[in-house]
Amino acid sequence: MIPEHFIQELLNRVDIVDVIDAAVPLKKAGANHVACCPFHNEKSPSFTVSPSKQFYHCFGCGAHGTAIGFLMEYQGLTFVEAIEDLAKRVGVQVPKEERNTPKAERPAPSLYELMQQAATYYRAALKKSQTAITYLKGRGLSGEIAARFQMGYAPEGLQNLREVFPQYEQEALSTLGLTIKNEEGRVYDRFRERVMFPIHDQRGNVIGFGGRVMAGDKNDGPKYLNSPETPLFQKGQELYGLFLARQAIRAANKVVVVEGYMDVVALAQHGVEYAVATLGTATTPQHITKLMRQTDDIVFCFDGDAAGKKAAWRAAMNALPALNDSLKLSFLFLPSEHDPDSYVREFGREKFELELAGAMPLSAYILQELSVRNELDSHEGRARFLDDAKPILQQLQAPKLNLMLRKRVAELAGVTQAEVESLLKLQAPTNQPKAQAKAPRRAPTTLMRKLLQLLFIQPPLALQLDAARLPNNNAEYEVLVKIMQLVTTDRLIRPAAIVENLEGVVAQQLLEDLTSEWMRWEEDEEFDVTEEFAGVLSQLLAAESKQSMSALLAKPFAALTAEEKELLRSYRQKPVLETK
Ligand code: UTP
Ligand code: MN
Repeated sequence: MIPEHFIQELLNRVDIVDVIDAAVPLKKAGANHVACCPFHNEKSPSFTVSPSKQFYHCFGCGAHGTAIGFLMEYQGLTFVEAIEDLAKRVGVQVPKEERNTPKAERPAPSLYELMQQAATYYRAALKKSQTAITYLKGRGLSGEIAARFQMGYAPEGLQNLREVFPQYEQEALSTLGLTIKNEEGRVYDRFRERVMFPIHDQRGNVIGFGGRVMAGDKNDGPKYLNSPETPLFQKGQELYGLFLARQAIRAANKVVVVEGYMDVVALAQHGVEYAVATLGTATTPQHITKLMRQTDDIVFCFDGDAAGKKAAWRAAMNALPALNDSLKLSFLFLPSEHDPDSYVREFGREKFELELAGAMPLSAYILQELSVRNELDSHEGRARFLDDAKPILQQLQAPKLNLMLRKRVAELAGVTQAEVESLLKLQAPTNQPKAQAKAPRRAPTTLMRKLLQLLFIQPPLALQLDAARLPNNNAEYEVLVKIMQLVTTDRLIRPAAIVENLEGVVAQQLLEDLTSEWMRWEEDEEFDVTEEFAGVLSQLLAAESKQSMSALLAKPFAALTAEEKELLRSYRQKPVLETK
């Protein structure tokens, strides 16, 4: 457990204004600082940060909390991660108090550990393989870069991993995609004679691998073999290189999305460290959302070939629902014979960055593409142009960009904007009920959601809760009350029993969102459910007491009941952050 006094000291040392300003640039307005709220879409700033209270509050959507709460909600960090992040900012170490459960009692290593053990083995094997080293050198990579990306090598042979895992037949290894069981029940290594690229999650855990055959290799099978989807690894969610690139992305305030492992590594080799790759899949809206948390300037740079162009278009289409007006999306099209790897090797970093700066903005790209597909000099062509534009305008969530785009579409089709709108049955751009009806961006990571996710893992924690002290103006509150009922009245303690009882009672999507973090947390040995629960709860209660205190302060003192006066007095005596 992290000692409480340390958390208090930490909050005294960091300034919430710096913490938030680094993520959401703030403007000074009187005693406070303001910005457009990062947790909901708005045009004028109602998100306020108070340096004296060390607290933020959005008058638009009600989001509020401390620096810790901000990192948890905005960056999606866990409580412990948020503390660690803040400690790093002020250059202090997080002390750990003794855990109640000694580590030795934990029987089996977690899935994460198994992946790490495999990665360590592959790394050591690379050092021993002259062929693999020669291959990577031949591709222009230095030893430092190979080490930075923790690259490895899976040697030839069917059961090399037996050396690492004496219980080679264990199911966990095939679940992770490290081994494969054939029809006769024989188990063998999935990756053989391949250069290995470990894939990390945002916390630096190895969650998957990509393995490339070496040139001239007789190894059959695909050029790149990837880990299958596993409990740790979902391709549509993860981006190769993001963990390592995070700092560079912040520093450059820009990210380049490329197609291949080698593109990321080669760009880093040439000093472009803010690149990430999709993993052999199309760019998904989840990818975009993940990147939007890091920067508001995303450049797609796919291969110059036909497949790359197709991937770019799919990325553009998938980005539409996730877009907002402060996000800059652009597309860099390389000469058809190049991919980012070959380009940067031939022309170097400066030229590549120059190209990046001149990448084509999303709207220009869409208009160009639609005009190329349809001949605009015939009525029929312009009619098809309008048909093609329809789904795009319907999905594009950024109101200003949408407005510009429909103006241009109208011009190009030779009709008026009003005609486009009525023809395509689009909402007038001024009031956008559709955009507002969409789940706000903060939905996936609110503190209430975190609290529920933890309850799903360890339902008896509900016994510690006092529902009356928690914010009840959200859909999660209802679920919380139901869980508390199931635990206290029906005495259910198994997570599965809780979920079964909630099926059909609460919205399916919400239930899925809430249970989706299970695996990730449960398999992570460092993840301490009890500690996380206490942390999330303290943040929620701190935010709530602040809220009710400001409500009380807004009333004339004389109008307060005796009880309210007492409450106000007690708040004032206590520190900002409360635990109990
Ligand atoms: P490319 O075929 O463009 O390879 O695949 P590349 O990145 O240029 O690799 P090198 O330069 O030949 O080494 C792009 C991405 O598509 C996925 C991989 O993620 C790869 O990085 N892919 C490709 C596969 O998953 N399997 C394959 O067989 C090929
Ligand atoms: Mn390539």
